[in-house]
Amino acid sequence: MSALTTYLKENRDRHLEELKTLLRLPSVSTDPQRKPDVRRAAEWVRDRLQAAGCTTIEIRETKGHPIVYAEWLGAPGRPTVLVYGHYDVQPVDPLELWETPPFEPTIRDGRLYARGASDDKGQFLIHIDALEAHLKTSGDCPVNLKFVIEGEEEIGSPNLEPFLVEERARLAADVVVISDTAMFAKGLPTICYGLRGLAYMEITVEGTDRDLHSGTFGGSVVNPAMALAKLLAALKDDRGRVTIPKFYERVRKLSRTERREFEALPHSDKKWAEAIGAPELFGEHGYSTLERLWARPTVEINGLWGGFTGEGAKTVIAAKAHAKVSMRLVPDQRPAEIGRLFTKYLKKMAPPSVRISVRELHGGDPWVAPIDHPALRAAARALERTWGRRPVFVREGGSIPVVATFERLLRVPTILMGIGLNEDNLHAPNEKLDLDQHFSGIEAATA
Ligand code: BES
Ligand code: MN
Ligand code: MN
Repeated sequence: MSALTTYLKENRDRHLEELKTLLRLPSVSTDPQRKPDVRRAAEWVRDRLQAAGCTTIEIRETKGHPIVYAEWLGAPGRPTVLVYGHYDVQPVDPLELWETPPFEPTIRDGRLYARGASDDKGQFLIHIDALEAHLKTSGDCPVNLKFVIEGEEEIGSPNLEPFLVEERARLAADVVVISDTAMFAKGLPTICYGLRGLAYMEITVEGTDRDLHSGTFGGSVVNPAMALAKLLAALKDDRGRVTIPKFYERVRKLSRTERREFEALPHSDKKWAEAIGAPELFGEHGYSTLERLWARPTVEINGLWGGFTGEGAKTVIAAKAHAKVSMRLVPDQRPAEIGRLFTKYLKKMAPPSVRISVRELHGGDPWVAPIDHPALRAAARALERTWGRRPVFVREGGSIPVVATFERLLRVPTILMGIGLNEDNLHAPNEKLDLDQHFSGIEAATA
């Protein structure tokens, strides 16, 4: 056994304890009340980078939550890898659906349950653990490393780009590496070469200037909740196609080759449906499930409220109704343009009896990259060494907007070598991390 393997084995328990410590910090970036906890998480990451052997380590203040930056540049002449990750997490509600509290990490059946276990604390840490293993066993590392670990990914990274622009020269690297995606299946190493983009909108429909008795007034005015329901329902037709004019105008056609490659992956619609408890799958006609998820855009309601939602009945026509709607985008759609098309369409469709306002909350560019870069091939070999199988190349339906930004600013390839699983319950109750995946991930990052 090599010194590295021995080191990783001997330090497994400590690495796990460290991850659990980080998971106990409720760094929910969207919750103003959690601001001190978010900062504590940043400080923890800083200290961890320091202990791992980084030489330059700083917490960079932003208008929002801090960015942790660190370097180990002890290998002049060798390649430089920039690792990106995020220490912030999603909110935990509905809390009552968690089997164990979200910020009390608990192991059951070889899985570590906690908010952020897979997204992304248990994933970015593999790279820090890997650097530590190299430095502690040989005092050296085969590559130079720079770390950018931010605290606002889950709210659309509003303050990251200014930092990247300002520090562009210092961030120079040969390749960006990110572990914040899923493997196609447990034990099946995976490199992701495409992500969908995002345009996230909030809609408010207003009817009257006050809530109304639904008997006294019902039938004499348009009900804003009904008007909103109609507008939303009209966004997709029965064949799963988005109805917004020009929505598909810039969508890149899937190539024959890519369709065949998707087709060759070990995917089963039946298993996919079973895994999420869906009676049956639904999506745009003419495309397979993986094509719909990875290479076709969609529009989805993420939240819908208005009127009386408490226990029992209350007869009321509420003055306002609201919805949050996100669109997942594919190359070469542009979030700002899609946002405008969406707004224009809704305003045109809304009846004159209501006022409608539409606001864009945040967006991110879609991304797809070639898979022939030498750095990508090196990553593939490292994954193969760990899992004993050749990695598959996939795209993902989720978004990491900074990936397109890195490409634009640094002009280097990004390797997405996530070790999560689709069953990790990201953004949902009972988020978990498979510990085999995690420890293999540390090995792969080390390799
Ligand atoms: N790690 C996820 C993105 C992801 C998950 C990619 C699974 C591929 C597979 C990331 O933290 C995330 O949740 N991104 C957000 C976008 C952001 C702008 C809020 C998303 O995709 O909703
Ligand atoms: Mn993430
Ligand atoms: Mn996330």
